[in-house]
Amino acid sequence: MKKILILTLISLLSTLVSAQDNLISNTGSRKSLSLNGKWQYIVDPYETGFYDYRYKELKETNKDAYWNTDVQANKTEKKEHGYVDKYSLEVPGDWNHQQPEFLYYEGTVWYKKSFDIERGNAGQRYFLYFGAVNYRADVYLNGKKLGMHKGGFTPFNFEVPQELLKEKDNFLVVKVDNKRHADEVPTLNTDWWNYGGITRDVKLITVPATFIQDFVLQLKKNTTGKAPEKEVEGWVKLNQAPAAGETVTIEIPALKFKKEIQATGQITALSFKLPKIQLWSPDNPKLYQVTLRTRHDQTTDRIGFRTIEAHGTQVLLNGKPIFMRGISVHGEIPQEMRRAYSEEDAAQLLHQSIELGCNMVRLAHYPHDEKITRLADSLGILVWSEIPVYWTIDFGNAEVLEKARGQLTEMITRDHNRASVIIWSVGNETPVSPARTTFMHNLLIKARELDNTRMLSAALEVNYSALNDKNVIDDPLGEFVDLVAFNEYLGWYGGLPDKCRTTSWDTPYEKPLFISETGGDAKGGFHADSLTRFSEEYQEWYYREQIAMIKRMPAKFVGISPWVLNDFRSPKRNNPLYQDGWNRKGFYDEKGNKKKSFFLMKAYYDEMKTKYDKK
Ligand code: GCU
Repeated sequence: MKKILILTLISLLSTLVSAQDNLISNTGSRKSLSLNGKWQYIVDPYETGFYDYRYKELKETNKDAYWNTDVQANKTEKKEHGYVDKYSLEVPGDWNHQQPEFLYYEGTVWYKKSFDIERGNAGQRYFLYFGAVNYRADVYLNGKKLGMHKGGFTPFNFEVPQELLKEKDNFLVVKVDNKRHADEVPTLNTDWWNYGGITRDVKLITVPATFIQDFVLQLKKNTTGKAPEKEVEGWVKLNQAPAAGETVTIEIPALKFKKEIQATGQITALSFKLPKIQLWSPDNPKLYQVTLRTRHDQTTDRIGFRTIEAHGTQVLLNGKPIFMRGISVHGEIPQEMRRAYSEEDAAQLLHQSIELGCNMVRLAHYPHDEKITRLADSLGILVWSEIPVYWTIDFGNAEVLEKARGQLTEMITRDHNRASVIIWSVGNETPVSPARTTFMHNLLIKARELDNTRMLSAALEVNYSALNDKNVIDDPLGEFVDLVAFNEYLGWYGGLPDKCRTTSWDTPYEKPLFISETGGDAKGGFHADSLTRFSEEYQEWYYREQIAMIKRMPAKFVGISPWVLNDFRSPKRNNPLYQDGWNRKGFYDEKGNKKKSFFLMKAYYDEMKTKYDKK
C-alpha cells in the first residue's frame, strides 16, 4: 500500500514541477507592498500604444509605446501619450462601473502606477502579483516587459529582476484588454457582464532567494475512522532546488505539533499523524494555524482538516452523508453594478446565502476572489469552484485546451488549502460532441492530477425525453465526474411550472445527483397573477412546483444550487420593462430586496436541514 502511495505522490510531484508555473500561493502571509489605489489610465481602443500604424507590434524601446515614459526628454520631443490624475481608475475594481463611458467598453485600457521601494539585501527576489485581470494583461516595468497573462479570474505573478527596480518612481504599466474572442475561455457568448480591468488586488511580493512557493496539507483520504489520531499528507514546493541540508519545519501551535523533515528537492512530500484534531465542517468550521519554515523563509495559513468524497450515490463529509442546500452566486455586487472583490463583498454574498438557509454556494461561472473562499472557510460554507469553460468553447483547438488547463491550475493552486472548497467544476452547459467530451475529460484528468482529494464535476447536459416526462442525465462526461450535476429550467425555458408535476429526472450513473441550476425571472416589486411572466407570483409558482418535484427526486439526489442569489447584469437581457440589462432570476432583486420565492426556498432548506441534522 505504502508503495502505491509513494508512486502516486511521485507522479503528482512530477506533475507539479512539470507544470513550470511560478504562481505563489498564500500571498496574504507574504511581505508585500500593496499597489492598490488610484492608477492613471489611457483608453486605447485602436491599441495605438501597442502597434505602429502598419499594425506591427512596437519594439520595446519605441518611445511611442505606452509602456515607455510619457515625459518629454526636451520641449521639442514628440510625445502623443501621457498619464495624468484627471484620468484615474481605482484598483482593484472593474472599469465599467467607475465611469459612465466605460459601461459597455470592450477593448484596451493602459493602467499606470508609480511606486518607490526600499531595495532589500542582495539575495531577495521580487514578484508582481495580480489577483485577477480581465481578460489579457501585458505587464511592463520601467520600459521592460515582465510578461503576459490571459484569463480573467485567476491569479498570476511575474518575477521582477532586482536590477530593474529603482528606489524611486518605478514606472509600472499594465495593458488590459477585455475583448472577447472565439478561441478564449470563456468564448464570445456568456450570460454575464464583461467587466474589464484590474479587478482584484495587486502587490509587489518580496521573498528570499529560495522560498516556499506553495504547499498543500490536508487530511489523508478515507481517514474518518474513530481513531483520535489523524493522518495528514501533502507536499511543500520551493521555488528552486534547496541547498544541501535544507529542512522544512511544520508547526501547528494549537496542537502543540512541530516536526522537522529533510527537504528532498524542489518538492518534498509531507505525511504524518496529528494528535486528536477537530474536523472542519459547516457546523464546526475549525481552522488551525499552520506554519511552514525553511532556513530562510516561512509561510503561515489557516487550514481546516476534513475529508470529502462521493461514495456510491452519497456525498460524505468526514464520513457522514450530507445534503447540499446550495445557491448559485455571481461575483457581482448588484447595488453598484460591479465585480465583487473585497472582504465586505464576500460577506454580503455569503450572509445572503446563509439567510436563505444555505450550507453551500456554487461560485459561478469562474473562480471568485480569494476573499470569498477564505471567508467560506471561516463561516463553514461549502464551495463549488468553477472555471469559465462555458457554453460553446472552441473544443477542437489544442491551444484553447491549454488556456483552460492554465486557468484550472491557477484556480486549484490558489485554493487547494481551502477546506470549504469541495468541488472543482470544469465547465457549464457545454454542448455534447466527441471533441467536447475529450476536451472536458482532459480537464478532469488534469484536475485529478493536481488534487485527488476533492470531487470533480461540471453542469452536464440533459437528454430530454420525447416520449414521456422521464428526463435522463446520460451525458457521456458523466462517466468521468464524481458528482453528476445538471441545469434544468422546467417552467421557464420549457413549458409552464405545472409541467413539473409529471416530470422526473434520473441518471444511469450510480453517482450522487445534483441540480446545479434551476430558476425563473421576476422583476422585484412587480406583482400580478401567477401566469404573468416576470411577476414575483410567476417565480413563486415556479418554485412551488419545482420544490414539489425536487421532493420526488431519486435517493441519489444530494443537493441543489438554484439560479441565482441576486439579479445580475447581462447584455443579453433586453426586455425594457422587466429586464433592462438585468438577468432577473435572483431570490434578491438588484437592491437586495427578497422576492416572494425567497421564502419558499428558505422553508424547503430549513426542512432539509432539520431532516439531515437528525441523521
Ligand atoms: C444557463 C446558464 C446561466 C444563465 C442561465 C439563465 O443555465 O448556466 O449562466 O444565466 O441559464 O438563462 O438565466
